Amino acid sequence: MKSQVRICMFGAGRVGKNHSKAITRHIPGGKIVALVDPIEAVRKETAVEYGIEKGFDTFEQAVEGADFDAVVITTPTPTHLPLAALAAEYGKHIFLEKPMALNLQECDQIIEVVKKNHVLLQVGFMRRFDPEFVTAAQRIEAGEIGQPMMIKSNTHGPGLPPPWARDLRTSNGMLAEVNSHDWDTVRWLMGSNLERVYTEVANFKGPANNVDTPNFYDNVLVNCKFESGGLGLISGVCPCGYGYDARVEIIGEKGIMQLGTLEGQAVVVCTNRDQGLIRPIVRTWPERFAWAYIYELEHFVQCIQTDSTPRAGGSEGRWAVAGVLAGTKSFLEQRPVYLKEIIGE
Ligand SMILES: NC(=O)c1ccc[n+]([C@@H]2O[C@H](COP(=O)([O-])OP(=O)(O)OC[C@H]3O[C@@H](n4cnc5c(N)ncnc54)[C@H](O)[C@@H]3O)[C@@H](O)[C@H]2O)c1
Repeated sequence: MKSQVRICMFGAGRVGKNHSKAITRHIPGGKIVALVDPIEAVRKETAVEYGIEKGFDTFEQAVEGADFDAVVITTPTPTHLPLAALAAEYGKHIFLEKPMALNLQECDQIIEVVKKNHVLLQVGFMRRFDPEFVTAAQRIEAGEIGQPMMIKSNTHGPGLPPPWARDLRTSNGMLAEVNSHDWDTVRWLMGSNLERVYTEVANFKGPANNVDTPNFYDNVLVNCKFESGGLGLISGVCPCGYGYDARVEIIGEKGIMQLGTLEGQAVVVCTNRDQGLIRPIVRTWPERFAWAYIYELEHFVQCIQTDSTPRAGGSEGRWAVAGVLAGTKSFLEQRPVYLKEIIGE
Protein backbone atom coordinates (compact mmCIF):
# COMPACT_ATOMS: atom_id res chain seq x y z
CA MET A 1 0.00 0.00 0.00
CA LYS A 2 1.26 3.46 -0.94
CA SER A 3 1.97 5.34 2.31
CA GLN A 4 1.31 8.86 1.03
CA VAL A 5 -0.38 9.81 -2.23
CA ARG A 6 1.29 12.82 -3.91
CA ILE A 7 -1.32 15.16 -5.39
CA CYS A 8 -1.18 17.98 -7.92
CA MET A 9 -4.10 20.41 -7.69
CA PHE A 10 -5.52 22.02 -10.85
CA GLY A 11 -7.40 25.23 -10.14
CA ALA A 12 -6.90 27.52 -7.15
CA GLY A 13 -10.36 29.13 -7.25
CA ARG A 14 -13.26 28.55 -4.86
CA VAL A 15 -13.18 24.76 -4.94
CA GLY A 16 -9.40 24.55 -5.33
CA LYS A 17 -9.05 26.40 -2.02
CA ASN A 18 -11.76 24.30 -0.37
CA HIS A 19 -10.16 20.98 -1.41
CA SER A 20 -6.61 22.15 -0.64
CA LYS A 21 -7.79 22.93 2.87
CA ALA A 22 -9.50 19.53 3.24
CA ILE A 23 -6.41 17.62 2.11
CA THR A 24 -3.74 19.57 4.01
CA ARG A 25 -5.66 19.81 7.28
CA HIS A 26 -7.50 16.48 7.40
CA ILE A 27 -6.02 13.79 5.14
CA PRO A 28 -2.62 12.52 6.27
CA GLY A 29 -2.61 9.90 3.49
CA GLY A 30 -2.43 12.66 0.85
CA LYS A 31 0.11 15.40 0.27
CA ILE A 32 -0.30 18.30 -2.15
CA VAL A 33 3.04 18.68 -3.91
CA ALA A 34 2.04 21.19 -6.59
CA LEU A 35 -0.68 23.61 -7.64
CA VAL A 36 -1.48 24.62 -11.21
CA ASP A 37 -3.42 27.78 -12.06
CA PRO A 38 -2.61 30.28 -14.80
CA ILE A 39 -3.66 33.19 -12.58
CA GLU A 40 -0.52 33.78 -10.53
CA ALA A 41 -2.08 35.90 -7.78
CA VAL A 42 -4.78 33.29 -7.02
CA ARG A 43 -2.26 30.46 -7.19
CA LYS A 44 0.17 32.19 -4.81
CA GLU A 45 -2.53 33.04 -2.31
CA THR A 46 -3.68 29.41 -2.11
CA ALA A 47 -0.12 28.05 -2.12
CA VAL A 48 0.91 30.28 0.78
CA GLU A 49 -2.22 29.52 2.77
CA TYR A 50 -1.80 25.73 2.49
CA GLY A 51 2.00 25.45 2.31
CA ILE A 52 2.13 24.14 -1.28
CA GLU A 53 5.73 24.40 -2.43
CA LYS A 54 5.50 24.22 -6.22
CA GLY A 55 3.31 26.29 -8.53
CA PHE A 56 2.85 26.09 -12.30
CA ASP A 57 0.87 27.69 -15.12
CA THR A 58 0.17 24.51 -17.12
CA PHE A 59 -0.14 20.72 -16.93
CA GLU A 60 3.02 20.30 -19.04
CA GLN A 61 5.11 22.41 -16.63
CA ALA A 62 3.73 20.44 -13.67
CA VAL A 63 4.69 16.99 -15.04
CA GLU A 64 8.17 18.36 -15.82
CA GLY A 65 8.67 20.01 -12.46
CA ALA A 66 6.94 17.80 -9.88
CA ASP A 67 6.45 14.11 -9.00
CA PHE A 68 2.83 13.21 -8.35
CA ASP A 69 0.52 10.19 -8.40
CA ALA A 70 -2.83 11.92 -8.74
CA VAL A 71 -4.57 15.11 -9.82
CA VAL A 72 -7.51 16.97 -8.27
CA ILE A 73 -9.18 18.98 -11.03
CA THR A 74 -11.24 21.97 -9.85
CA THR A 75 -11.19 24.07 -13.02
CA PRO A 76 -14.06 25.37 -15.21
CA THR A 77 -16.04 22.66 -17.02
CA PRO A 78 -14.62 23.18 -20.58
CA THR A 79 -11.15 22.27 -19.24
CA HIS A 80 -12.26 18.97 -17.65
CA LEU A 81 -11.78 16.76 -20.73
CA PRO A 82 -8.37 18.14 -21.82
CA LEU A 83 -6.94 18.06 -18.30
CA ALA A 84 -8.37 14.62 -17.42
CA ALA A 85 -7.13 13.18 -20.74
CA LEU A 86 -3.60 14.52 -20.17
CA ALA A 87 -3.57 13.22 -16.60
CA ALA A 88 -4.67 9.74 -17.69
CA GLU A 89 -2.10 9.62 -20.51
CA TYR A 90 0.59 10.40 -17.92
CA GLY A 91 -0.73 7.64 -15.62
CA LYS A 92 -2.14 9.97 -12.93
CA HIS A 93 -5.27 9.05 -10.95
CA ILE A 94 -8.04 11.62 -11.32
CA PHE A 95 -10.42 13.36 -8.97
CA LEU A 96 -12.63 15.48 -11.23
CA GLU A 97 -15.12 18.08 -10.06
CA LYS A 98 -18.71 17.95 -11.29
CA PRO A 99 -20.09 18.44 -13.87
CA MET A 100 -17.94 15.75 -15.41
CA ALA A 101 -17.93 17.46 -18.83
CA LEU A 102 -19.99 19.57 -21.23
CA ASN A 103 -21.60 16.69 -23.13
CA LEU A 104 -21.78 12.89 -23.34
CA GLN A 105 -19.10 12.64 -26.05
CA GLU A 106 -16.65 14.30 -23.67
CA CYS A 107 -17.75 12.02 -20.81
CA ASP A 108 -17.16 8.98 -23.03
CA GLN A 109 -13.71 10.21 -24.00
CA ILE A 110 -12.78 10.62 -20.32
CA ILE A 111 -14.12 7.15 -19.45
CA GLU A 112 -12.23 5.64 -22.39
CA VAL A 113 -8.86 7.28 -21.68
CA VAL A 114 -9.11 6.39 -17.98
CA LYS A 115 -9.80 2.75 -18.85
CA LYS A 116 -7.01 2.59 -21.43
CA ASN A 117 -4.43 3.93 -18.99
CA HIS A 118 -5.63 1.94 -15.93
CA VAL A 119 -6.03 4.97 -13.68
CA LEU A 120 -8.84 5.67 -11.20
CA LEU A 121 -11.54 8.29 -11.77
CA GLN A 122 -13.71 9.84 -9.07
CA VAL A 123 -16.27 12.56 -9.83
CA GLY A 124 -16.92 15.21 -7.14
CA PHE A 125 -20.35 14.13 -5.89
CA MET A 126 -19.59 14.86 -2.24
CA ARG A 127 -23.21 14.31 -1.18
CA ARG A 128 -22.51 10.58 -1.61
CA PHE A 129 -20.08 11.00 1.31
CA ASP A 130 -22.15 13.33 3.49
CA PRO A 131 -23.13 11.47 6.70
CA GLU A 132 -26.81 12.52 6.43
CA PHE A 133 -27.15 11.61 2.75
CA VAL A 134 -25.37 8.29 3.33
CA THR A 135 -27.67 7.48 6.27
CA ALA A 136 -30.73 8.34 4.18
CA ALA A 137 -29.55 6.10 1.33
CA GLN A 138 -28.90 3.21 3.73
CA ARG A 139 -32.31 3.56 5.39
CA ILE A 140 -34.11 3.70 2.03
CA GLU A 141 -32.13 0.65 0.90
CA ALA A 142 -33.16 -1.13 4.12
CA GLY A 143 -36.81 -0.55 3.17
CA GLU A 144 -37.70 1.79 6.04
CA ILE A 145 -40.03 4.01 3.97
CA GLY A 146 -40.84 1.33 1.42
CA GLN A 147 -40.49 1.69 -2.33
CA PRO A 148 -39.62 5.36 -3.11
CA MET A 149 -42.52 6.92 -5.03
CA MET A 150 -41.55 10.60 -5.16
CA ILE A 151 -38.48 12.77 -4.51
CA LYS A 152 -37.96 16.53 -4.25
CA SER A 153 -34.37 17.76 -4.26
CA ASN A 154 -33.37 21.40 -4.09
CA THR A 155 -30.13 23.32 -4.27
CA HIS A 156 -30.41 27.06 -3.76
CA GLY A 157 -27.21 29.09 -3.48
CA PRO A 158 -26.58 32.60 -2.18
CA GLY A 159 -24.23 34.04 -4.83
CA LEU A 160 -24.32 34.78 -8.55
CA PRO A 161 -22.08 32.11 -10.19
CA PRO A 162 -18.95 33.35 -12.06
CA PRO A 163 -19.61 34.40 -15.71
CA TRP A 164 -18.37 31.10 -17.25
CA ALA A 165 -20.62 29.11 -14.91
CA ARG A 166 -23.86 30.88 -15.82
CA ASP A 167 -23.37 30.71 -19.58
CA LEU A 168 -24.93 27.76 -21.44
CA ARG A 169 -22.08 27.85 -23.96
CA THR A 170 -19.30 27.31 -21.40
CA SER A 171 -20.99 25.31 -18.66
CA ASN A 172 -24.65 24.39 -19.40
CA GLY A 173 -25.65 26.97 -16.77
CA MET A 174 -27.28 26.45 -13.40
CA LEU A 175 -28.70 22.99 -14.10
CA ALA A 176 -25.07 21.84 -14.44
CA GLU A 177 -23.17 24.10 -12.09
CA VAL A 178 -25.60 24.12 -9.19
CA ASN A 179 -27.99 21.22 -9.76
CA SER A 180 -25.48 18.53 -10.85
CA HIS A 181 -25.68 17.25 -7.29
CA ASP A 182 -29.47 16.97 -7.50
CA TRP A 183 -29.32 14.98 -10.75
CA ASP A 184 -27.03 12.51 -9.00
CA THR A 185 -29.00 12.52 -5.73
CA VAL A 186 -32.41 11.79 -7.26
CA ARG A 187 -31.04 8.89 -9.31
CA TRP A 188 -29.13 7.51 -6.30
CA LEU A 189 -31.94 7.78 -3.72
CA MET A 190 -34.75 6.68 -6.10
CA GLY A 191 -32.62 3.72 -7.22
CA SER A 192 -33.72 4.36 -10.80
CA ASN A 193 -32.61 6.12 -13.95
CA LEU A 194 -34.59 9.05 -15.31
CA GLU A 195 -36.96 8.45 -18.18
CA ARG A 196 -38.34 11.92 -18.99
CA VAL A 197 -38.00 15.52 -17.77
CA TYR A 198 -39.83 18.80 -18.24
CA THR A 199 -38.16 22.09 -17.26
CA GLU A 200 -39.40 25.61 -16.63
CA VAL A 201 -36.98 28.49 -15.98
CA ALA A 202 -37.31 32.13 -14.94
CA ASN A 203 -34.99 35.12 -14.77
CA PHE A 204 -35.81 37.44 -11.87
CA LYS A 205 -32.50 38.99 -10.87
CA GLY A 206 -30.43 38.94 -14.08
CA PRO A 207 -31.20 42.54 -15.15
CA ALA A 208 -30.38 43.95 -11.69
CA ASN A 209 -27.11 41.95 -11.73
CA ASN A 210 -26.25 43.23 -15.25
CA VAL A 211 -26.34 39.72 -16.69
CA ASP A 212 -27.03 39.80 -20.42
CA THR A 213 -25.92 36.21 -21.17
CA PRO A 214 -28.33 34.56 -23.67
CA ASN A 215 -30.83 32.17 -22.05
CA PHE A 216 -29.73 33.14 -18.54
CA TYR A 217 -32.05 31.93 -15.79
CA ASP A 218 -31.80 32.13 -12.01
CA ASN A 219 -34.78 29.95 -11.10
CA VAL A 220 -35.43 26.46 -12.42
CA LEU A 221 -37.86 23.61 -11.74
CA VAL A 222 -37.52 20.21 -13.41
CA ASN A 223 -40.34 17.68 -13.30
CA CYS A 224 -38.92 14.17 -13.52
CA LYS A 225 -40.35 10.76 -14.37
CA PHE A 226 -38.17 7.78 -13.48
CA GLU A 227 -37.94 4.39 -15.21
CA SER A 228 -39.30 2.90 -11.93
CA GLY A 229 -42.51 4.91 -12.42
CA GLY A 230 -41.53 7.30 -9.60
CA LEU A 231 -41.79 11.08 -9.83
CA GLY A 232 -39.33 13.81 -8.94
CA LEU A 233 -38.81 17.54 -8.73
CA ILE A 234 -35.44 19.30 -8.92
CA SER A 235 -35.36 22.94 -7.94
CA GLY A 236 -32.57 25.51 -8.36
CA VAL A 237 -32.37 29.15 -7.31
CA CYS A 238 -29.16 31.12 -7.62
CA PRO A 239 -28.67 33.73 -6.26
CA CYS A 240 -31.40 32.98 -3.74
CA GLY A 241 -30.52 35.78 -1.35
CA TYR A 242 -31.03 33.90 1.93
CA GLY A 243 -28.25 31.34 2.38
CA TYR A 244 -27.32 27.87 1.11
CA ASP A 245 -30.22 25.48 0.96
CA ALA A 246 -29.81 21.79 0.05
CA ARG A 247 -32.74 19.67 1.18
CA VAL A 248 -34.38 16.49 -0.03
CA GLU A 249 -37.76 14.88 0.68
CA ILE A 250 -38.53 11.31 -0.33
CA ILE A 251 -41.99 9.80 -0.09
CA GLY A 252 -42.12 6.04 -0.07
CA GLU A 253 -44.99 3.56 -0.01
CA LYS A 254 -44.64 3.33 3.79
CA GLY A 255 -43.60 6.83 4.83
CA ILE A 256 -41.66 10.03 4.33
CA MET A 257 -37.99 10.94 4.82
CA GLN A 258 -36.71 14.50 5.05
CA LEU A 259 -33.04 15.24 4.66
CA GLY A 260 -31.25 18.48 5.49
CA THR A 261 -32.24 21.65 7.28
CA LEU A 262 -32.01 25.41 6.88
CA GLU A 263 -30.56 25.77 10.37
CA GLY A 264 -26.78 26.22 10.30
CA GLN A 265 -25.96 25.85 13.97
CA ALA A 266 -27.79 24.90 17.12
CA VAL A 267 -27.19 28.38 18.53
CA VAL A 268 -30.35 30.31 19.27
CA VAL A 269 -30.31 33.88 20.57
CA CYS A 270 -33.00 36.23 21.80
CA THR A 271 -32.29 39.83 22.80
CA ASN A 272 -35.69 41.27 22.09
CA ARG A 273 -38.90 39.39 22.74
CA ASP A 274 -40.70 41.29 19.95
CA GLN A 275 -38.12 40.09 17.38
CA GLY A 276 -38.24 36.55 18.74
CA LEU A 277 -35.58 33.88 18.37
CA ILE A 278 -32.58 34.36 16.07
CA ARG A 279 -31.22 31.11 14.61
CA PRO A 280 -28.27 30.96 12.16
CA ILE A 281 -29.00 29.69 8.65
CA VAL A 282 -26.60 27.50 6.60
CA ARG A 283 -24.61 30.22 4.85
CA THR A 284 -22.48 28.48 2.16
CA TRP A 285 -21.77 25.15 0.46
CA PRO A 286 -18.27 24.82 2.02
CA GLU A 287 -19.94 25.15 5.42
CA ARG A 288 -22.83 22.73 4.74
CA PHE A 289 -20.73 20.00 3.17
CA ALA A 290 -17.38 20.56 4.97
CA TRP A 291 -17.13 16.93 6.14
CA ALA A 292 -18.48 15.52 2.89
CA TYR A 293 -15.60 17.19 0.97
CA ILE A 294 -13.09 15.74 3.43
CA TYR A 295 -14.62 12.24 3.26
CA GLU A 296 -14.82 12.21 -0.57
CA LEU A 297 -11.15 13.23 -0.91
CA GLU A 298 -10.11 10.75 1.80
CA HIS A 299 -11.98 8.06 -0.15
CA PHE A 300 -10.10 9.03 -3.34
CA VAL A 301 -6.75 8.75 -1.53
CA GLN A 302 -7.71 5.41 0.03
CA CYS A 303 -8.87 4.02 -3.34
CA ILE A 304 -5.42 4.84 -4.77
CA GLN A 305 -3.69 3.29 -1.76
CA THR A 306 -5.73 0.08 -1.95
CA ASP A 307 -6.29 -0.01 -5.71
CA SER A 308 -10.09 0.04 -5.29
CA THR A 309 -12.78 1.56 -7.49
CA PRO A 310 -14.13 4.96 -6.30
CA ARG A 311 -17.79 5.04 -5.23
CA ALA A 312 -18.74 7.91 -7.58
CA GLY A 313 -17.06 7.44 -10.94
CA GLY A 314 -17.50 8.03 -14.65
CA SER A 315 -20.89 6.31 -14.91
CA GLU A 316 -22.43 8.51 -12.19
CA GLY A 317 -20.84 11.61 -13.76
CA ARG A 318 -22.19 10.70 -17.20
CA TRP A 319 -25.77 10.11 -15.94
CA ALA A 320 -25.79 13.52 -14.28
CA VAL A 321 -24.58 15.19 -17.50
CA ALA A 322 -27.35 13.37 -19.40
CA GLY A 323 -29.89 14.86 -16.96
CA VAL A 324 -28.43 18.34 -17.42
CA LEU A 325 -28.64 18.04 -21.22
CA ALA A 326 -32.21 16.72 -21.16
CA GLY A 327 -33.29 19.42 -18.69
CA THR A 328 -31.68 22.17 -20.79
CA LYS A 329 -33.14 20.88 -24.06
CA SER A 330 -36.55 20.79 -22.39
CA PHE A 331 -36.66 24.50 -21.49
CA LEU A 332 -35.01 25.60 -24.75
CA GLU A 333 -37.55 23.64 -26.82
CA GLN A 334 -40.41 24.12 -24.34
CA ARG A 335 -41.39 20.44 -24.25
CA PRO A 336 -40.84 17.26 -22.22
CA VAL A 337 -37.63 15.46 -23.21
CA TYR A 338 -37.01 11.71 -22.98
CA LEU A 339 -33.56 10.68 -21.74
CA LYS A 340 -33.31 8.32 -24.69
CA GLU A 341 -33.20 11.42 -26.95
CA ILE A 342 -29.94 12.29 -25.17
CA ILE A 343 -28.33 8.91 -24.51
CA GLY A 344 -29.81 6.93 -27.40
CA GLU A 345 -31.99 3.81 -27.21
N1 LIG B 1 -18.61 20.12 -5.53
C1 LIG B 1 -19.09 21.33 -5.30
O1 LIG B 1 -19.85 21.52 -4.36
C2 LIG B 1 -18.73 22.46 -6.20
C3 LIG B 1 -19.02 23.78 -5.81
C4 LIG B 1 -18.67 24.82 -6.71
C5 LIG B 1 -18.05 24.53 -7.92
N2 LIG B 1 -17.79 23.22 -8.24
C6 LIG B 1 -17.12 22.87 -9.52
O2 LIG B 1 -15.72 23.09 -9.38
C7 LIG B 1 -15.17 23.57 -10.62
C8 LIG B 1 -14.52 24.95 -10.39
O3 LIG B 1 -15.43 25.84 -9.83
P1 LIG B 1 -14.95 27.12 -9.00
O4 LIG B 1 -16.17 27.71 -8.45
O5 LIG B 1 -13.83 26.78 -8.06
O6 LIG B 1 -14.39 28.05 -10.17
P2 LIG B 1 -13.45 29.32 -10.05
O7 LIG B 1 -13.73 30.13 -11.25
O8 LIG B 1 -13.57 29.95 -8.69
O9 LIG B 1 -11.96 28.70 -10.11
C9 LIG B 1 -11.47 28.02 -11.21
C10 LIG B 1 -9.96 28.22 -11.26
O10 LIG B 1 -9.43 27.36 -12.29
C11 LIG B 1 -8.37 28.07 -12.92
N3 LIG B 1 -8.10 27.45 -14.24
C12 LIG B 1 -8.74 27.66 -15.42
N4 LIG B 1 -8.21 26.89 -16.40
C13 LIG B 1 -7.20 26.18 -15.82
C14 LIG B 1 -6.29 25.19 -16.30
N5 LIG B 1 -6.32 24.77 -17.56
N6 LIG B 1 -5.40 24.66 -15.43
C15 LIG B 1 -5.38 25.07 -14.14
N7 LIG B 1 -6.22 25.99 -13.63
C16 LIG B 1 -7.13 26.54 -14.45
C17 LIG B 1 -8.86 29.50 -12.99
O11 LIG B 1 -7.78 30.39 -13.18
C18 LIG B 1 -9.53 29.65 -11.61
O12 LIG B 1 -8.64 30.15 -10.63
C19 LIG B 1 -16.34 23.57 -11.60
O13 LIG B 1 -16.38 22.35 -12.28
C20 LIG B 1 -17.56 23.70 -10.69
O14 LIG B 1 -18.75 23.19 -11.24
C21 LIG B 1 -18.09 22.20 -7.40
